[in-house]
Amino acid sequence: ALVSLRQLLDYAAEHDFAVPAFNISNMEQVQAIMQAADACDSPVIMQGSAGANRYAGEVFLRHLILAAVEQYPHIPVVMHRDHGPTPDICAQAIQAGFSSVMMDGSLLEDMKTPASFEYNVDVTHTVVRMAHACGVSVEGEIGCLGALAAEQDHRRLLTDPDEAVEFVKQTGIDALAVAIGTSHGAYKFSKPPTGEVLVISRLKTLQQRLPNMHFVMHGSSSIPREWREIINEYGGNIPETYGVPVAEIVEGIKYGVRKVNIDTDLRMASTGAMRRFLAQPENAAELDARKTYQAARDAMQTLCRSRYEAFGSAGHA
Ligand code: G3H
Ligand code: 13P
Ligand code: NA
Ligand code: ZN
Repeated sequence: ALVSLRQLLDYAAEHDFAVPAFNISNMEQVQAIMQAADACDSPVIMQGSAGANRYAGEVFLRHLILAAVEQYPHIPVVMHRDHGPTPDICAQAIQAGFSSVMMDGSLLEDMKTPASFEYNVDVTHTVVRMAHACGVSVEGEIGCLGALAAEQDHRRLLTDPDEAVEFVKQTGIDALAVAIGTSHGAYKFSKPPTGEVLVISRLKTLQQRLPNMHFVMHGSSSIPREWREIINEYGGNIPETYGVPVAEIVEGIKYGVRKVNIDTDLRMASTGAMRRFLAQPENAAELDARKTYQAARDAMQTLCRSRYEAFGSAGHA
């Protein structure tokens, strides 16, 4: 059944677990996420970005998630709009039936320029008023997700605890995305991250100040070395790079992390699995593309299941 983010995260907080929030843009991802959830009895969060809307089209994206809800009526599913850039776009998602939206007012509409605190409060509070009137949840963000280039100077981008407290008070959001040194994509850290660059300790401080808030970790792909090696073994060229170790996410869950955004790891598993499948001599004459997609779906399913199990959502559907 379709559930709101708030309903699911309140339950997750009572039981001390987090739910991976997987980005989707095609059917095989949706099926992998659902098959894995069904196998280990986990609730599900699926989220669509602007890029996913451009790729699949808003109608297809929405119906892919609704198909999952229909096919697996016993699994709670949150349909979430990731990184909404404006209140208007969040309103569209609410109107379309999403059960949760993120208003990302940490950046201006261009999704590049850091915004002022006042702007962020203004747009986020506007979305909370609309969304709550419709039973839809809202994720806000305070602080800026970093980039590798900013590693030296990244502390000023981290979520400031005083600002976070004010932001939550003034907006009424259901979940707060925090900046603790992660960034989107494959190139987060140039070496295994220490507590200097991946600041899990900030979550501890934030939880002391906001004991009832649900925290969201963006940029939480782990960038598995095995998948990088498989991609490179079969013709790819992904330089050495490090993500957020699963063990660090598990540490964050102790301090109130309840939603963990993952996109790149699914991209790596599917890219690696498809490259490997197509490179096998016995598949050289294979034209049934479903077999290639099947390899991708199986690899993504394994990855999803291991995240449900590690974050503790398995067994809680
Ligand atoms: O928010 C970041 C996600 O990884 C989505 O990426 O805009 O390429 O779909 P995308
Ligand atoms: P990754 O790029 O680490 O998978 O993060 C995805 C994300 O935060 C989407 O909002
Ligand atoms: Na989001
Ligand atoms: Zn994100």
